[in-house]
Amino acid sequence: MTILVTGGAGFIGSNFVLDWLAQSDEPVVNLDKLTYAGNPENLVSLSKHPGYLFAHGDIQDATLVDRLLAEHRPRAVVNFAAESHVDRSISGPSAFIQTNVVGTFQLLESVRRYWGKLVDAERTTWRFLHVSTDEVYGSLAPTDDAFSETHRYAPNSPYSASKAASDHLVRAYHHTYGLPVLTTNCSNNYGPYHFPEKLIPLMIVNAQAGKPLPVYGDGQQVRDWLYVKDHCSAIRRVLYKGRMGEVYNIGGWNEKPNLEIVHTVCDLLDELKPRADGKSYRAQITYVADRPGHDRRYAIDARKIEQELGWKPSETFESGIRKTVQWYLENPAWVANVQNGSYREWVAQQYGHGNPVAPAA
Ligand code: NAD
Ligand code: TYD
Repeated sequence: MTILVTGGAGFIGSNFVLDWLAQSDEPVVNLDKLTYAGNPENLVSLSKHPGYLFAHGDIQDATLVDRLLAEHRPRAVVNFAAESHVDRSISGPSAFIQTNVVGTFQLLESVRRYWGKLVDAERTTWRFLHVSTDEVYGSLAPTDDAFSETHRYAPNSPYSASKAASDHLVRAYHHTYGLPVLTTNCSNNYGPYHFPEKLIPLMIVNAQAGKPLPVYGDGQQVRDWLYVKDHCSAIRRVLYKGRMGEVYNIGGWNEKPNLEIVHTVCDLLDELKPRADGKSYRAQITYVADRPGHDRRYAIDARKIEQELGWKPSETFESGIRKTVQWYLENPAWVANVQNGSYREWVAQQYGHGNPVAPAA
């Protein structure tokens, strides 16, 4: 048995691959395009692991995906591959449509071809798990109920619209072709290997560098935060136990306004790595122009996954954020390599001369 993971060199994908191989003998094939967000350094500890194979490529490359499926015969595909940053989707939506919409479509087509040829016993246990976001549901008012799985889709950014489109394609492939799919819609993740363009790692990194901590608008936008390892355990649970064709919302029961998050990060840094001048890192907070179309509040109702599959997060926000700040303090080389682009150079050197798993022409 093998699973094929896409986007496994990104933030959540690399945590998923590391956790998977720490707990299971089942091999992983990781197909990743290595965009700016894909960092093979996250997985360097697996370089000699017999159960890990990296395939450099695009989920839109049907020839490559068909070949990976035929050669490795995975029993499941877990699709993390995506463009994931809302601000980038506002300044340049095209890549989001390409990867999140067209890429998911191409991947589904490859999977449909492969799955359709399996023998009956394999077809029934086969799974395509699509990793999606709570942002597809749009923005909540302060007193609205949290997002359940039946909340209407109302995506507001090019990112969330592209993810919503991919969710609809996954749903349609189940409804029309019977493809055995599972979809998860998760809240904001945080933890190790998070690219420092997103709120929490940006604040940790900027604070230490003596840079401003940019808070959009009034900082009162609310997100529901989940430690990344809890997201990974939820995905594993859904893959093993989820009912085919179902959607599961995943969240941390952890709604907090952005400013509170930034304060918590500052306070932990004050404790763990105080500023030389004795002042709090809070002094670096700077209010900047709000994000266009900024969603005010996300909140996840995670009762379905708890009641049906028995999954609950194991970290509180307090324990998870402390681990996260500590991880960044203990891994300055990872941060430096991400920031100075040296991992991009390594990627060009390592993978620039063609796809290492591509068949001979
Ligand atoms: P990320 O941006 O850190 O990683 C994305 C990965 O996908 C990168 O390794 C990148 O190289 C790869 N990739 C991009 N385009 C590709 C393509 N065309 N073909 C193959 N690989 C490609 O993202 P993330 O934060 O790890 O998110 C992973 C998934 O989880 C995404 O689908 C995202 O929508 C979803 N999600 C993220 C969060 C969050 O808080 N980060 C929350 C809920 C859901
Ligand atoms: P982000 O980490 O980009 O995740 P998402 O937009 O997918 O929720 O942002 C989390 C929240 O933090 C969001 O409300 C935007 C806000 N934010 C800031 O206030 N300043 C920043 O520099 C960034 C990157 C985000």
